[in-house]
Amino acid sequence: MSDTSVLFVCLGNICRSPTAQGVFEQALADSVLAGQVTVDSAGTAAYHLGKSPDTRATAAARQHGYRLEAFRARQVNVDDFYRFDWILAMDAQNLADLQAMRPEDSQAKLGLFLDQIDQCAVREVPDPYYGGSEGFEQVLDLCEQASQALLRRLEAAL
Ligand code: 4NP
Repeated sequence: MSDTSVLFVCLGNICRSPTAQGVFEQALADSVLAGQVTVDSAGTAAYHLGKSPDTRATAAARQHGYRLEAFRARQVNVDDFYRFDWILAMDAQNLADLQAMRPEDSQAKLGLFLDQIDQCAVREVPDPYYGGSEGFEQVLDLCEQASQALLRRLEAAL
């Protein structure tokens, strides 16, 4: 059993949330919390179940030293609200969808991933799916900032 657990959620679970998972797992591995935090990711939609992350996301991540290839897309389910202490959404629509399916007795802390960053100029990780490669670079940059902020918060709490 780990001390705490974090689930990252986006729409398809092939671009943003696998990137968040890969970046945050790497930050954890290099920290005093190594081995103490369970991390996973999921999508609110079922479009890409069982698929590997988008090749544009894996390519951008690899250039920054992260490996996403082993991840497989899955959909958020009701059990996740009991299994995870933190459920962090990439955008406001993901968060609204999560709030709508959240069981009343779930203790999970639900929020936007970027709200971990003090005074961040943006609150949502923009969906890069229909755009160019710069969108994937922006996803990585935001995930790195938010991962460091989340890590500091967990280090203080655990
Ligand atoms: P993600 O990106 O939510 O960051 O994984 C998307 C992936 C797939 C689609 C939209 C966004 N789609 O429409 O299939």
